[in-house]
Amino acid sequence: MAQAVVRRVASAGGEVMLVARDPEKLRHVGDDARVRGAKIADLLQADLDLVGGHAALLDRAFAALGTVDVVLIAQGVLAAPEDCERDPALAERVLVTNMVGAALLAQAAALRLAAQGSGTLVGISSVAGDRVRGSNYQYGAAKAGFSAFLEGLRCRMSGRGIRVVTVKPGFVDSPMTAHLAKGPLWASPDAVAGVILRAAERGRDVVYAPGYWRLIMLAVRALPRWLLIKLRL
Ligand SMILES: NC(=O)c1ccc[n+]([C@@H]2O[C@H](COP(=O)([O-])OP(=O)(O)OC[C@H]3O[C@@H](n4cnc5c(N)ncnc54)[C@H](OP(=O)(O)O)[C@@H]3O)[C@@H](O)[C@H]2O)c1
Repeated sequence: MAQAVVRRVASAGGEVMLVARDPEKLRHVGDDARVRGAKIADLLQADLDLVGGHAALLDRAFAALGTVDVVLIAQGVLAAPEDCERDPALAERVLVTNMVGAALLAQAAALRLAAQGSGTLVGISSVAGDRVRGSNYQYGAAKAGFSAFLEGLRCRMSGRGIRVVTVKPGFVDSPMTAHLAKGPLWASPDAVAGVILRAAERGRDVVYAPGYWRLIMLAVRALPRWLLIKLRL
């Protein structure tokens, strides 16, 4: 999804700084963005679970870019509940990457945007956090935590010249979900990138991507627990 956002920003001639943990992919995405017309301020390899490194990487980004218009937080890890149950280290990664690392990066970025007095922080959470189900409870709980954190951060940053946007995608056909069977509700990363950029531009609080997920989640949230369990959702 982040790569699809970068492609769109690049085609509009924007300036970006990219952060990823895999140096090979980072170089590839950077080259692709450059060819499409982006100005690359910097490429930075970082494991975003290591929260102690967030301050330095944000300082470097703000120094390289000057004024920062948008910070997009897009890291995530998905794992099956039974794999997490077998392997607590994997469960820890799901909780840390999707919640702790993402939330602390959001906090540090929001404070820098507030010091600048402008800009938009966009965090990619998930519809999975709207109603945590047995079929992905570690991931869903982490996303619920991240959505709640962004909600509180939005209130905290109110009046400081910045916007905090929560994006909640539904099913997206990305590397994260390459192993899953696809159906009619699935969206492309590019379609979701369009939603993300429009939300950032308008400074919306919470957006579903695509928008029909707002209605689906309204229904899913209303389901009684016994039915949720019976349906094995
Ligand atoms: N795909 C969906 O159906 C869906 C639905 C709802 C929400 N989301 C959320 O949307 C966001 C983007 O996911 P995606 O679908 O675009 O999948 P993706 O292509 O797998 O993107 C996730 C990215 O997070 C990176 N990442 C994971 N742990 C990291 C860490 N510790 N430090 C730095 N980077 C790390 C991954 O890096 P590597 O490439 O090195 O693994 C990967 O590039 C995620 O937050 C995901 O949870 C996805």
